[in-house]
Amino acid sequence: MEKLVITGGTPLKGEVTINGAKNAAVAILPAALLINGITTIENLPNISDVKLLCEIIEELGAKITWVGKNTITIDARNITSTRAPLELTRKFRASYYLIGALLGRCGDVQVGMPGGCKLGARPIDQHIKGFEALGAHVEVGQGNITATCKELVGTNIYMDIVSVGATINVMLASVLAKGTTIIDNPAKEPHIVDVANFLNTMGADVRGAGTDVIKINGVEKLEGNITYSVVPDQIEAGTFMLAAVASRGDLVIKNCTTKHLECISAKLLEIGAHVEELDGDTIHVWCDKRPSKANIKTLPYPGFPTDLQPQMGVVLATAEGTSIINESIWESRFQYTDELNKMGAKITAQGKTAIFEGVDSLYGAPVCATDLRAGAALIIAGICAEGTTEVYNLEHIDRGYENIEEKFRSIGANIKRVKEEDPNKNLVEMSE
Ligand code: UD1
Repeated sequence: MEKLVITGGTPLKGEVTINGAKNAAVAILPAALLINGITTIENLPNISDVKLLCEIIEELGAKITWVGKNTITIDARNITSTRAPLELTRKFRASYYLIGALLGRCGDVQVGMPGGCKLGARPIDQHIKGFEALGAHVEVGQGNITATCKELVGTNIYMDIVSVGATINVMLASVLAKGTTIIDNPAKEPHIVDVANFLNTMGADVRGAGTDVIKINGVEKLEGNITYSVVPDQIEAGTFMLAAVASRGDLVIKNCTTKHLECISAKLLEIGAHVEELDGDTIHVWCDKRPSKANIKTLPYPGFPTDLQPQMGVVLATAEGTSIINESIWESRFQYTDELNKMGAKITAQGKTAIFEGVDSLYGAPVCATDLRAGAALIIAGICAEGTTEVYNLEHIDRGYENIEEKFRSIGANIKRVKEEDPNKNLVEMSE
């Protein structure tokens, strides 16, 4: 078992470079199965979700070659199976994108019921509604989803709920459909636009991604060799922005798309931190005093992202005054507050609301990452706290952040990953 050991109390200072977006990458990899050709994907985050997806894609007959730490080629000319390994696909959420991609290319697919972070109920009714509207027959049972069709035919689909996954999945299924598909009330996150750009690079005709209506004119085939670079990760960039403020530090964050960070910058300015856009892909964030309280409501893009809510919670835990966070996307996203309370925070969470009574400082404690972003929040809390924090359940964090401890170490954090060989705390160092 591995854990992170953090000795806190040092403000973060320096420069950090952001990787490609996890949530775009996990959709672009399945999307690459739509093309009867070879795709080179650059700026791919080297994280466990991506590696798992590559393993699944290879089981389907595509050939994956890593040509660098963050670049792969996918040769999807020969798909030999449309039945994905059920145990592997059940391990994470984004395996649902294989449904849209394989339905679109082959008219047949089976995956295990998607897993992922335990953030509350995670239904996929909007995905299924979209596939059925396009003409697919979908069956859900025994922990699996099977979808088949003779052909998919474009139609109008209204999303009752703004869903990132359903929007992307319907886009994937409809690029090769007959005729035109209109998605009304789609999600508008940066990774939606990135997936649409990727599909268009392959020869698809997707218009309006990032707006209130997406129009997909089905094309007959996607062929050829293409190269695509994944958009910078909005959530990783936001994580470092919030880490700068929580630690009263000073960070220059490079390779980010500053436009995607406006919803975070606005809140940081409101609480008294400083944000300066240096150019379109570099942002400077610093904080020289205790931030003031704020009220936050998570919303679909361009609102405040739910995936940065726990990291913002750490900032508010030591802000001046009482703050309120209202989580409008996931019902179980406040599990991290119990862990922060072990570090001296004063947070009362009930249902989708949490009240943060700002305390002067946090102290170190052993804590558990309950999900991916909760894990990032606990690392930030450990960096801010007096004394030593141990963060457990690193498999959640490794799903979505590449080299997280190296990145934090490079900007001044005292953090190391250690392997606990024996439950009686006999530690063997893995990396310094
Ligand atoms: C994606 C992100 C996740 C992020 C979330 C919201 C990926 C791989 N994951 O998750 O990190 O927290 O967007 O920004 O990109 N819903 C339904 N029916 C559906 C689909 C969704 O009711 O068919 C509800 C969900 O329960 C949730 C809300 O819609 O309350 C948003 O979910 P959605 O945008 O689909 O999230 P994911 O795509 O699973």
